[in-house]
Amino acid sequence: MLRHLTRLRPHQRELPNVTATDALLPTYGRIPVTVVSGRGCTLVDSDGNEYLDFIAGIAVCALGHAHPAVTEAVTAQAKRLVHASNLYSHEPSGTLARELVARAGMVHAFFCNSGTEANEAAIKLARKWAYRRGESQRRTILACTGSFHGRTMGSLAATDNAKYREGFAPLPEGFGFVRFNDVADLDAKIDESVAAFIAEPVQGESGVHVADAEFLRAARRLCDERGALLIFDEIQCGMGRVGPLFAFEHFGVRPDVLTLAKALANGLPIGAMLVGERAADGLQPGDHGSTFGGSPIPAAAALAHLRVRDETQLEKNVRARSEQVFAGLRALSERHPRIIGEPRGLGLLVGVSVCEPYEAKAIQTAARERGLLVGTAGGNTLRFAPPLIVREEEVERALGVVEDAVDGVEG
Ligand SMILES: Cc1ncc(COP(=O)(O)O)c(C=O)c1O
Repeated sequence: MLRHLTRLRPHQRELPNVTATDALLPTYGRIPVTVVSGRGCTLVDSDGNEYLDFIAGIAVCALGHAHPAVTEAVTAQAKRLVHASNLYSHEPSGTLARELVARAGMVHAFFCNSGTEANEAAIKLARKWAYRRGESQRRTILACTGSFHGRTMGSLAATDNAKYREGFAPLPEGFGFVRFNDVADLDAKIDESVAAFIAEPVQGESGVHVADAEFLRAARRLCDERGALLIFDEIQCGMGRVGPLFAFEHFGVRPDVLTLAKALANGLPIGAMLVGERAADGLQPGDHGSTFGGSPIPAAAALAHLRVRDETQLEKNVRARSEQVFAGLRALSERHPRIIGEPRGLGLLVGVSVCEPYEAKAIQTAARERGLLVGTAGGNTLRFAPPLIVREEEVERALGVVEDAVDGVEG
């Protein structure tokens, strides 16, 4: 059979008689929609149905779908240079590194391809940084309860979700957890064995929980006093999602290491670890790498994203639309107190608890059937993360559909 297939030219091969859903490894409980195109806040499926997209590829498409500036940058770069390896410098990643470190007040940027890889880099940097200073006992990476940092082994070890970890033992050693927003617990656990403390300023996957500014300030102080690095994972909450370009600006606490991915290139695969002065010498030549990291096309897309941010008033829009979303969801919660809880979140990363026995997933399905895509998150939460360019009338429409969906589920 194999010989037969290999003798055929690629276009003569018959596709196996399985559906796309069967052919894909079932690691996702995929929603039965085949998306074919998008523009702005709208997605279109293979049957021609249009959806208002209020999840944006899970906080990825900050500028919406098919943004002309990103499309143009990607097309132009594809014609010029697609890959050269990281053995050489190239203009898009070099410029992107300069732009990001300048905007974040950092010193270096390392590029990879995803969020989990950015966190792996941060974990490795923290341990190597301590080792270089002669403190090889400093190995522990402390993370928060409710954290999500990714699916590769190191990031998974820093992720506080038993379901995601189940069956993958042994995970790497040297990880511990601090109760989210509990300064006393942090104080008790940051000691001379700790290489770094990692936190999401706004936790996304566990159900949209915002860190207290006091907690992040205490983390900064304790890391400084006790010789540990402070890592912020802004993979979901960064790149303008909560208003300013970086979530840490909202809290007024700058980490030593910042990880980004998701929205950085508005949908092209890229991750970044930005490193500040204190940790600047943590990784040296040969310590870490990535074949595709910061490839010219994603880097060009990320530069286009930054340029659009500079030319538009995205932060102002995020503030205004956020107020509108919160007001609408609060009113919804007042009208349906048995089913919808108080909204929480920051900027355009918003979650709302669904009260049992009702299920967030049922409301998500009812909303989709009415032409609105929303997300869910841990703790029976509905999650809203629309493109940051979302317009007032689109928010109005989405809130109307959510209400309709809740009515439908309530029966
Ligand atoms: C806060 C956070 N960190 C890390 C990740 C992992 O990113 P990726 O899926 O790109 O590996 C995610 C993804 O949802 C995330 O939300």
